Amino acid sequence: MSILIKNGRVVTASEDQIADLYIEGEKIIAIGKNLPYRADQEIDATGKLVFPGGIDPHVHLDMPFMGTFSSDNYETGTRAALFGGTTMVIDFILQTQGKSLRHALDQWKGRSDGNAVGDYAFHMAVTDFNEDTKKEIRQMVEEEGIVSFKTFMAYKGALMINDSQMVGLMQEVKKQGGLVTVHATNGDIIDYLIAKHKAEGKLSPLYHYLSQPEITEAEASSRFCDMAHYTGCPAYIVHLTCEGALNAVRRATLRNQRVFVETCIQYLTLDASLYDKGFESAKWVMSPPLREKKDVETLWAGMNQGSVQVVATDHCPFMWEQKKLGENDFSKIPNGHPAIEHRMELLFSEGVAKGKISLNKFVETACTNPAKIFGMYPFKGTLAVGSDADVVIFDPNEKHTLGVKSHHMNVDYSSYEGMELTGKTKTVILRGSVAIDNNQCLVSKGYGKFIRRNKITGII
Ligand code: URP
Ligand code: ZN
Ligand code: ZN
Repeated sequence: MSILIKNGRVVTASEDQIADLYIEGEKIIAIGKNLPYRADQEIDATGKLVFPGGIDPHVHLDMPFMGTFSSDNYETGTRAALFGGTTMVIDFILQTQGKSLRHALDQWKGRSDGNAVGDYAFHMAVTDFNEDTKKEIRQMVEEEGIVSFKTFMAYKGALMINDSQMVGLMQEVKKQGGLVTVHATNGDIIDYLIAKHKAEGKLSPLYHYLSQPEITEAEASSRFCDMAHYTGCPAYIVHLTCEGALNAVRRATLRNQRVFVETCIQYLTLDASLYDKGFESAKWVMSPPLREKKDVETLWAGMNQGSVQVVATDHCPFMWEQKKLGENDFSKIPNGHPAIEHRMELLFSEGVAKGKISLNKFVETACTNPAKIFGMYPFKGTLAVGSDADVVIFDPNEKHTLGVKSHHMNVDYSSYEGMELTGKTKTVILRGSVAIDNNQCLVSKGYGKFIRRNKITGII
């Protein structure tokens, strides 16, 4: 099977040119003007953007969490991602404390094997670092191609590790050629504030937000940077939301330390004013919570300054009935927010179309940097000869409205209901097969492939 895409505006993290792109099998064979190929299928991309398939490196599919499971499984979640131009996701395996990493990997494979529509990989969350776990780090890297290890500095009793475990893990991960990522918030302060608010009878979703002030994220981010600097381990902060935390990373870089920063699309487009809606605000109960308008601006600035390298989603959807588990107690509302389908279009509309970031920066943060940081470049994350043919054809002028009636995610509300966007995904090609066209998904469950990743240098 071959495909020739003609006359598109071909954009990568560094290039921007009118060109043709020729695909054979799963790979890109040529990019250039007036390519002399005949193909099984020709697509006229005049007036359209042609960019690499998006990579969302932070999603939670079919994940057991807070007494329930996130509502998108590997089929519905990766298909919804494809509709929005994201061809690959990285999902999180959670070790059960007291059990092995292998045990968790087997559980996650049981849910994901044969079920994904789009491509995927795994981060391994180490929630119990001990002598046995330490031996498994090498196995994950060498045998499984799982090279990134997630840690939690919050969710005590289920997921959180302490600082001695963090330092021990960092030393081992560095030795094996991996990267440590972190949910960087101070779990002890948060637990104190949750208990205080509950004792005072303050039980609405607003108090979820008020239990996680900026200082909890700034302090943990700073501590994480210090531990990463001490151990020399490649390091990455997930879902960074605020000025205090980004300033902690900026300070760390003064000593020529590199810590990668991911923010998520909701922190760039929504703010904490959504917590004044009574229980409806449960739609935006996520950790960390949405922040202030000044933080939203800080994150856009961080992207342009190069201190925020990645825009992900932390997609962790729950049906409204599931959110209602916390109707009388904010601390029981399953934490998470649905966005896997909207990341690329929101980032384009709010970022590129409104003049906040360049088109190259859009591709860099949504496609290329996730591939570079997580050991997949250049076979994923760019348009280059020899790369996987993961390609998005995008109309930069088409207007559309987000909402529960039109989205493909398995969740019965939209956090972006009625939001009008400029720019729409038209055609998506995944490893040489047309996956989305005319608002239809043309590949089936099982097409999505598990992607083994290379060792990580910590330099991009
Ligand atoms: O609220 C969130 N973020 N839920 C998913 C788990 C996590 O902390 O990333
Ligand atoms: Zn988190
Ligand atoms: Zn998450």
